[in-house]
Amino acid sequence: MHPLLQRAYDPEYFRESGYQLIDLLAEALAAWQRREGAVTHYEPAEDALARWQQAMEGGGRDPLDFFRQYLDETIRLHHPHYIGHQTGVVAPVAALAELAGALLDPGMGVYEQGNVGVVWERLLVRALAERFGMDGARADGFLTSGGTLGNLTALLCARQRQVPGDAWMHGYGGRQYAFLVSEEAHYSLAKAIQSMGMGARGVVPVPTDARGRMRADLLEGILAKARAEGIEVIGVVASACTTALGTYDPLEAIADFCARHGLWLHVDGAHGAAVAFSERYRHLVRGIERADSVIMDFHKMLMTPTLVTAVVFRRGEDSFRTFVQKASYLWTEDETAEWYNLAKRTFELTKPSLSVRVMALWRLFGPELFGANVEHLFDLARRCHALLQAASDFETALPEPEANILCYRLCPAGVPADRLDALNQAVRQRLVEEGDFFIVQTRVQGRLWLRSTLINPMTTEADFARLMDRLRKMAAEVRAAG
Ligand SMILES: Cc1ncc(COP(=O)(O)O)c(C=O)c1O
Repeated sequence: MHPLLQRAYDPEYFRESGYQLIDLLAEALAAWQRREGAVTHYEPAEDALARWQQAMEGGGRDPLDFFRQYLDETIRLHHPHYIGHQTGVVAPVAALAELAGALLDPGMGVYEQGNVGVVWERLLVRALAERFGMDGARADGFLTSGGTLGNLTALLCARQRQVPGDAWMHGYGGRQYAFLVSEEAHYSLAKAIQSMGMGARGVVPVPTDARGRMRADLLEGILAKARAEGIEVIGVVASACTTALGTYDPLEAIADFCARHGLWLHVDGAHGAAVAFSERYRHLVRGIERADSVIMDFHKMLMTPTLVTAVVFRRGEDSFRTFVQKASYLWTEDETAEWYNLAKRTFELTKPSLSVRVMALWRLFGPELFGANVEHLFDLARRCHALLQAASDFETALPEPEANILCYRLCPAGVPADRLDALNQAVRQRLVEEGDFFIVQTRVQGRLWLRSTLINPMTTEADFARLMDRLRKMAAEVRAAG
């Protein structure tokens, strides 16, 4: 055997470099929890590309050096000053589960290779459905690689059920079908609908209220208008919660509307459906039990590595409608609903071992861990919001948050309203370049807001207060620089 191959598969090389890596990561985690070091080392993309282009000759590297460099150059979501996107902060043991899954790497497409991982998917999805208030024995679904793909898979299924004839086989026959989608819905929904060949008119926008929640009271009028224009509406997409503001659409009212008109209800719960694990916050998704399909990302608030999205169908049999394909080398009964041959229902054929990441947390800590994290983060967001409200030089987009997402901005005395967007944008850019904190920005109601998802359970109010001070100082610097 080639000596390189020998080394690549040598269990002792794996053991030695593995122990070194775990030590390195454990020390880094501890240092970040002590708030040591920066969150990120900002470097313009072109510079990083040029630097790495020079360093591409492979081979002969020490594993520890390699991993140390990767660590140095990668943003630290575990640092309590990471208060940016909704990207989950991975529970370290879930990363170990991923390591096991990645090493064994069976592929989850068919049961004879996926084995226990396939069984876990079904059990996890049904347990989640029960937490939504659905009948766990009737519900079914699977895990897939991300909310974007989950939304597309669910909407394809909706199309197959709602469009007369067989859209999978014969397309739309020249007719214009559409979903009603809130103006604040995640852009992956428009991406899905347009990828399904329904065109831009396939997305009929529904206005939102001042908090970014779908105006359920407008649905009847919008449906009537769409029909008058020759558009056949097949479903409604609700958000639980929205990405920018973190607010929940009124699911019960939307479910009533769907029931009245025989429309499919899809709930994009990528971020916020995780409240189903919390006694205190579950009320935010009241009505979700009536959805035809729901997606939820474990890799946001539920602490698993990306990407692990549950796609849940209230009537499990629906999940078999999406793709009707023949692959006789993989399964024996082409048209039967073999729940254990997952690739019949997912986009992926070879799929990573997603379930082991969730099941590890479930078995080691119990699902109470998920509820504890949701409650901790939601409570923390409320306390940080109170700090913003108490400060006269900050304003918030919402009177109070619904989830763990805050949109806020500096409004120092003496700065004209039409200069605030530019000021906040410049301040955020400086902050990210400095690397001590990481936050993001968004546009809501035509204005630019700083945006923080309280996603790291190690973050405290004191961290957030320090962030506010840092933003104030930077605003003064930006203003002084003219
Ligand atoms: C509401 C919502 N839906 C869908 C997505 C897309 O999920 P993913 O990034 O896992 O593809 C996001 C991502 O932030 C989201 O917030």
